[in-house]
Amino acid sequence: ARDNRVKLVEVGPRDGLQNEKKTIPLATKIELIERLARTGLDTIEAGSFVSPKWVPQMANSSEILEHLLHQKIHSPLPISYAFLAPNTKGLQNAAALLKQHQGAFTTQANPAAPGDKTPKPGVEMAVFAAATESFTQKNLNCDIQTSLERFKAVIQDSKALGLRVRAYISVVLGCPFEGFDVDPRKVAEIATDLLESGADEISLGDTTGMGTAPRTSNLLKCMAAAGIRTEDVAMHFHDTYGQALVNTAVSLEHGVRTFDSSVGGLGGCPYSPGATGNVATENMVYFMETLGMDTGVDLDAVADIGAWITGELGKANDSSVGKAVLGA
Ligand code: HMG
Ligand code: MG
Repeated sequence: ARDNRVKLVEVGPRDGLQNEKKTIPLATKIELIERLARTGLDTIEAGSFVSPKWVPQMANSSEILEHLLHQKIHSPLPISYAFLAPNTKGLQNAAALLKQHQGAFTTQANPAAPGDKTPKPGVEMAVFAAATESFTQKNLNCDIQTSLERFKAVIQDSKALGLRVRAYISVVLGCPFEGFDVDPRKVAEIATDLLESGADEISLGDTTGMGTAPRTSNLLKCMAAAGIRTEDVAMHFHDTYGQALVNTAVSLEHGVRTFDSSVGGLGGCPYSPGATGNVATENMVYFMETLGMDTGVDLDAVADIGAWITGELGKANDSSVGKAVLGA
């Protein structure tokens, strides 16, 4: 892999849509995923095997996975599709579908070396811890320790199925309930636990967008001091305060090469009141291009998708770059 290669994880179809109140038709979700799969993105987060009572919008995630498997993940490009699972029940629901398709899309057939950013086709799972007790209670109805024990089981069972696992840690730079009072050493401790449980990658979520350049830098220093390799770290910024790309630049300086983003800046978290969207994929791709970094993503194609999906949802297009590119 070349040094200037950056991996983008598109989270629009899951993180971007999960908070929408009106039920989005399955066909719209599938069209979104299929269009994104043709833009050069490495990974698309496509759904979530959580309780439909907790997040109703994700209730048809099994139909999405079923569709992708049935189509034999037909994208001409090597894409990985990620699905969230909060517990073994969620993983079992996903695994039942994967088994029907003989595991043809597990990453075991296409193992990635640690730190290898080359896209591998397949399905991967994602677990999601949080850095504060109050957010963990609101999001998962349990304490941090219990959540980590549950995730250990999800991670180990996923690995046994040949699935790659990413592990989120939410509210790493600010919590809707505990404010700026998030201890970066606690984040590093949780990350270490998840890596020891077998997670392939830690995605650090600035769920509230409260992260600033110096605090992002401090967090990444704490991660490094705890012995966590930058190859194992992804950053997941929200642009609530307009700091996402500044924090991205800081993360690049620290060696991070994997970033999450959402087409059209879609998003928000159901358990984070007032949180706006994830950083827009259009903005991320443009920014990386200005730095001479290679995302492999077609900016014009992503901008078109951002305009289309925000129109479908009846929302404003939150991507400044998307609007500029389209002259809108
Ligand atoms: P609970 O109520 O404590 O669960 O919720 P429970 O084990 O007591 O079960 C209650 C009911 O849910 C039972 O059904 C279970 O079968 C069912 P009933 O007997 O009442 O009919 N259930 C499930 N159904 C389907 N799939 C499952 C599942 N598990 C239990 N996996 C639970 C605990 C973890 C289930 C719940 O809190 C939950 O689903 N939470 C998910 C919340 C969520 O999805 N949040 C958004 C993702 S995090 C995020 O967006 C941030 C991130 O993007 C990063 C960032 O932006 O910074 C990652
Ligand atoms: Mg997010």
